[in-house]
Amino acid sequence: MAEIVQTVLIITGISGSLALVLTLANLYIANYGECKIVINNDKELVVDGGSSLLSTLNEQELFLPSACGGKGTCGLCTCKILEGGGPVLPTETPFFTKDELADNMRLSCQVKVKQDMKLSIPEDLLNARKYEAVVEFIKDETKTIKLLRFKITDGQEVDFKAGQYVQLLAPPYPGNPESVYRAYSVASSAKEKNAIELIIGYVEEGLVTTYVHQHLSEGDEVSFNGPFGDFYLRDSDAEIILVAIGTGIAPIRSILYQMKDEQIQRKATFFFGARTQKDLVCAEEMYAFEKSIPNFHFRPVLSREPDDSGWEGDRGRVTDSIQTYIEEGIDQEAYMCGSPVMIESAVIELKKKKIPEERIFYDEFG
Ligand SMILES: Cc1cc2nc3c(=O)[nH]c(=O)nc-3n(C[C@H](O)[C@H](O)[C@H](O)COP(=O)(O)OP(=O)(O)OC[C@H]3O[C@@H](n4cnc5c(N)ncnc54)[C@H](O)[C@@H]3O)c2cc1C
Ligand code: FES
Repeated sequence: MAEIVQTVLIITGISGSLALVLTLANLYIANYGECKIVINNDKELVVDGGSSLLSTLNEQELFLPSACGGKGTCGLCTCKILEGGGPVLPTETPFFTKDELADNMRLSCQVKVKQDMKLSIPEDLLNARKYEAVVEFIKDETKTIKLLRFKITDGQEVDFKAGQYVQLLAPPYPGNPESVYRAYSVASSAKEKNAIELIIGYVEEGLVTTYVHQHLSEGDEVSFNGPFGDFYLRDSDAEIILVAIGTGIAPIRSILYQMKDEQIQRKATFFFGARTQKDLVCAEEMYAFEKSIPNFHFRPVLSREPDDSGWEGDRGRVTDSIQTYIEEGIDQEAYMCGSPVMIESAVIELKKKKIPEERIFYDEFG
């Protein structure tokens, strides 16, 4: 027994010393100096080496999408590193197919800038900007979901497609020593160029939602960047199926504003899942859209509404609504937003209704 304890202590001591040596080497020896980053054979940046490519680009006001704040878990911060990226790390491989890896796709938050690099980044991502804004209002939609409106104060106009998202910055606050970004879908009309609205749910111990729900007040200054994402209404004649739960209503609300603004005639149904009537975020607005969008129907579905509440609408989950109301053999497209679990089961139901996978679009939150 004593021998085992001694061996464990020796191994722990050796690994601890190695980690210390590596940290010190990183701090004092591995000075990568100035590095040149060339983007799309055009834009040239001279940066200090040593940080992740994602944060290095951020410092240069070039914003790649990121929903996990650089933790290597969301897989959104991809770009092609044509030269200077070093070997692919085990933290990156789960996010790419063999072909993508062969095509030099990398996770920019996992790659450290250590030498000159050549990158390929889609032009529309290079158009993402940083915006300064002030909180115009904060409205409690439910106990745990807030609707916020940010008025842009730096003179810029924001140009986004309904359905896209921005990254909101939470500055350091008591209990969170570092600035962090998280993704939030724009919930307002893309016609508005000087303000955006977001719908943000509280996540226990979540860094950015704690900032929004417990530290942010009307009149405060905020900063966000974007827009990002390829979740937006495709131009076609197909019937539109919209599906969301909870805060997943955010990009759908923006798409509904687009349908209202453009008076889109396509038949559309929005299946919105909530627990009880009290959890139906923006319900009044959704019913009002039935009057202002030509062929739109709002179908809320409640999973935990008390039997004796007088609720005469649908009960169950959004997947039950898909089973009940979606007809087979019709030209249809689906747009969905919510938790990965909901999306996974809704995709299964939509495929049962013979809607091809390439006509099912979604953003997963979480
Ligand atoms: C494209 C995109 C758009 C998004 N749009 C919205 C939006 O419009 N409104 C919105 O409220 N959120 C949205 N999200 C989710 C958002 O980006 C954050 O993940 C979420 O707000 C939690 O951030 P946090 O910093 O508070 O929590 P973190 O500090 O990141 O997480 C704390 C802990 O909570 C867990 N966790 C994270 N998210 C959830 C969750 N949703 N439910 C339960 N546990 C969770 C984490 O795994 C972690 O353990 C979107 C995400 C993506 C990828
Ligand atoms: S920022 Fe999320 S994986 Fe890189």
